[in-house]
Amino acid sequence: MSPTLHLPGLVDVHTHLRVPGGEHKEDFVSGTAAALAGGFTQILAMPNTSPPLATLDVLHATRAIASETVRCDVGLYAGASPQHVDELRALAAQAVALKIYLNDTFGPLRVEELPTLHGCFRLWPRDKMIAMHAEGQSVAVGIGLAAAYRRPVHFCHISRRDEIELIAAAKQAGLPVTCEVTPHHLFLTDQDAARLGPLGDMRPRLATQDDRDTLWAHIASTVDCIATDHAPHTLAEKASTNPPPGVAGLETALPLMLTAVQQGRLTLDRLVELMALNPRRIFGLPAQPDTTVEIDREARTTLANDRLLTRCGWTPFAGMVVQGLVRRVTLRGQVVYDVDRPEALAPPGAGRVI
Ligand code: NCD
Ligand code: ZN
Ligand code: ZN
Repeated sequence: MSPTLHLPGLVDVHTHLRVPGGEHKEDFVSGTAAALAGGFTQILAMPNTSPPLATLDVLHATRAIASETVRCDVGLYAGASPQHVDELRALAAQAVALKIYLNDTFGPLRVEELPTLHGCFRLWPRDKMIAMHAEGQSVAVGIGLAAAYRRPVHFCHISRRDEIELIAAAKQAGLPVTCEVTPHHLFLTDQDAARLGPLGDMRPRLATQDDRDTLWAHIASTVDCIATDHAPHTLAEKASTNPPPGVAGLETALPLMLTAVQQGRLTLDRLVELMALNPRRIFGLPAQPDTTVEIDREARTTLANDRLLTRCGWTPFAGMVVQGLVRRVTLRGQVVYDVDRPEALAPPGAGRVI
């Protein structure tokens, strides 16, 4: 078996790049550097910024910043908000998908009333995805809306047995639903949360061993995508009296998943489906010709904070030994990342806004 492996450029449909308003945690320059180091060439950025990407003015201005500063291809989500339902159609022209937050998490975006949900499902174009942060019985609300409106709904960061089993049942019934799971919910549990404190706190929270095992049991079937939910916060914020939920993930996802392949938990073909083919198809994202990730599959490394390119500078996986190292990334024929040549990193503005 050759030690060098070539994968297509990976796609992450769930990242928080913190523009505007959270640039001390991350911005397009640092976040897309982290993406490339992690083997991702096409990523989608969430709208829970400050102010949120819920109005045409903010979305438009953020797209302009992105086009000057991204190193890989980035698409922006619009955020659903009860105050701005009348702007949804205009937002759709500038966004790759709509995000609806049904449950509490970082930032003020929240939809708790039915009229707003109706508005979203009536006004958002059918050919663009609606993604939901839905935990527990909110998953049933999302499935109900997908059934009533007969349109696709994507569930973010599914983490528990009941949720994945409900989505499996909905798929069995022929409903157009898809879901993602995160590496942290696949590799960590509430036991790690106790050890990590605020550094192991995110939404949805780390769950039980049984929940984690059930996600793995659905990895070859119900799970459609691996998404990182890259949600950087600074160590100072995590050490504060009111630490925000969220952990970085762009630079650790592929090594962790390659290690799982090595351990026989999924096949390499399935990894490529979950991290490139399915997310691109589900969100209707453009193909990236001549785009590859070169991996040294035999290199064993210890994940470490000081090697990260994300501005927050820490990972809950620090100290874990993984197998599989991203050596080089090529985007549209250009080398955009080389582990041995920092100067090869694509400059800000080299990527495209989707
Ligand atoms: C995310 C964030 O920090 O923006 N935090 C998290 O714990 N996942 C928000 C989210 O994805 O729910
Ligand atoms: Zn969320
Ligand atoms: Zn998120």
